[in-house]
Amino acid sequence: MSNDSRREVGIGMIGYKFMGKAHSHAYRDLPFFFDPQVVPRLRVIAGRDDQGVQAAALKMGWQSFETDWRKLLERKDVDVIDIVTPNNTHAEMAMAAAKAGKHIICEKPLAMSLDEAQKMVQAVEEAGVVHMICHNYRFAPAVQLAKQLIESGKLGRIYHIRATYLQDWIMDPSFPLSWRLRKDTTGTGALGDIGAHIIDLARFLIGEFTEVTGMMETFIRERPIGEMNGGLSATSSGNEMGTVDVDDASAFLARFDNGALGVFEATRFAGGNRNGNRFEINGEKGSIRWDLENMNLLRVYFSDDEPGLQGFRTINCTEETHPYAGAYWPSGHIIGYEHTFINLFSEFMNGIAEGRSPNPNFYDGFRNQAVLAAVEQSVRDKSWARVQS
Ligand SMILES: NC(=O)c1ccc[n+]([C@@H]2O[C@H](COP(=O)([O-])OP(=O)(O)OC[C@H]3O[C@@H](n4cnc5c(N)ncnc54)[C@H](O)[C@@H]3O)[C@@H](O)[C@H]2O)c1
Repeated sequence: MSNDSRREVGIGMIGYKFMGKAHSHAYRDLPFFFDPQVVPRLRVIAGRDDQGVQAAALKMGWQSFETDWRKLLERKDVDVIDIVTPNNTHAEMAMAAAKAGKHIICEKPLAMSLDEAQKMVQAVEEAGVVHMICHNYRFAPAVQLAKQLIESGKLGRIYHIRATYLQDWIMDPSFPLSWRLRKDTTGTGALGDIGAHIIDLARFLIGEFTEVTGMMETFIRERPIGEMNGGLSATSSGNEMGTVDVDDASAFLARFDNGALGVFEATRFAGGNRNGNRFEINGEKGSIRWDLENMNLLRVYFSDDEPGLQGFRTINCTEETHPYAGAYWPSGHIIGYEHTFINLFSEFMNGIAEGRSPNPNFYDGFRNQAVLAAVEQSVRDKSWARVQS
């Protein structure tokens, strides 16, 4: 029994592995650290495997479970549908949830194609529900400080962004061919999976993309067929081999509508880089650098610092004055990966209370998808491609 007088919002989540765990944890911790206007309640999770979903419900604190996700749409005590399933399921689930009048949070990338993303935007618009997409890295306090510095003009005109998302979890040729490596379930490989995150960071910090030119490569073309285990591990189901039909690595150049230039790289073949989500931005009055693996730190350089003392310095973004940081611990007491989700969900809950869709929402998902589509087109055509606006 809860004595909390704030309005409760019933959550129904579809999928329960890697992101299922991150989202479940965020809902549970959110009212502990924040004072959202509405409070999430973990009503029901859906998964296809009866025993698996039951065990997940018990472990992660959900009140009930279903093996058919459509049952969640019928429940009156469910206000929000949270989609943490593979990319090929997002459109069908989100459009059905919108039709049922449920608010939606969907994992990235929004869809399998720009056409699908457009239909999803149309569905949430018509239904008038609140929607967000889970680009959680925007919500690291250091990234939010970077945004404040750029918006306040502290860096002046922005010239460059160079962003990389480097991982190495599929370098072993025996790593199984799971949904994340199959075009029919994932859309694109490194590009849509991790490239989508640095595209979102660039849109958040710099502005809209206008044109891109890219390249993609698949280094290991045959792998044993298998399943993801949750997280970034997988198990093969036997000796049967299958063909990898998505990119292991992608890189592209970009132009932005404000004249800035961008260099982007997303790969799962950068040995030693476990989760190297990094960017550097250079402006006329300074530069900033961020690295997820040291996510509380923002490195800054300002050209108006005293001559002789100029150079990059490091801000530990744990002060009460830094965005979101004050909700947690005293200065210097660092936060981590899971807190980016808690911060995002605090915005989502307030959006629901106020009937608005905070950024990043399905429109951001659509714009992101437009960049992904343009990179794919530029690779096919071996040329520059305009990004649809
Ligand atoms: N925001 C992030 O940083 C981040 C990180 C990882 C993954 N993701 C995204 O989250 C989504 C899920 O990825 P994950 O890593 O959690 O995958 P996962 O393989 O760990 O989990 C997928 C879940 O979906 C379930 N599922 C699959 N097909 C289903 C169906 N048809 N109906 C019902 N349930 C189904 C699986 O049983 C499993 O519980 C993807 O869109 C992925 O791109 C985002």
